Amino acid sequence: MDKAFSNEAGTLELKKIFGDKVFENPKPTALIKSILMQTTADNDIVLDFFSGSGTTGQAVLELNKEDGGKRKFILVEQMDCVENITIKRVQWSIKQVTGSYTYAELKKWNQNYIDEIEEAKTNKKMLSIYKKMKAEAFFRYDVDLSKFEENGFTKLELDQQKEVLIECLDKNHLYVNLSEMDDTTYDISDEDKAMNKKFYGLG
Ligand SMILES: C[S@@+](CC[C@H](N)C(=O)[O-])C[C@H]1O[C@@H](n2cnc3c(N)ncnc32)[C@H](O)[C@@H]1O
Repeated sequence: MDKAFSNEAGTLELKKIFGDKVFENPKPTALIKSILMQTTADNDIVLDFFSGSGTTGQAVLELNKEDGGKRKFILVEQMDCVENITIKRVQWSIKQVTGSYTYAELKKWNQNYIDEIEEAKTNKKMLSIYKKMKAEAFFRYDVDLSKFEENGFTKLELDQQKEVLIECLDKNHLYVNLSEMDDTTYDISDEDKAMNKKFYGLG
């Protein structure tokens, strides 16, 4: 019931940082801090898989400053707002207190095909995407490519072609899995490999 715990308070905080209402329903830092105080120990890692505007990052940094804790945080977000809002807020918070952060993106695999399919404007382009997919993409286990008729496919409307190809992709392979990191197909740099190994504590 406390006003400091309202979404309105969260919106005012974002206005202070960005000068505008940049995110719908941000949580107020005071609320997250209060939860962290009750539920975490000094060296815990706090994970927010739906980090939105990054309130959790700010709350962890501020609480560490207040009680001398050494909590770390992992923020995950799926939208373009990561670069414009989440990271900027983390950077802003670090300036107010102290701390550091690392930013990483998932390495796309099947998601690359979805991006290409969504952007495609012609049936010809769709056929060329299909041919590339046939060589490199992960299809759903229940898709039988021997039954895929290219002639029939070319006769479909563009939107139908898009639907068919996206439906065929295995969504478990939208991004490169950690276990596949050393596969040369993915062309992952030594620097990225080292960063992943460090993050996951692999020898
Ligand atoms: C209600 S908002 C979180 C608000 C946040 N607590 C704050 O104070 O700003 C939920 C967020 O989860 C993100 N999200 C939803 N599904 C996701 C997924 N599968 N992976 C990563 N992020 C996701 C959305 O993009 C959205 O920004």
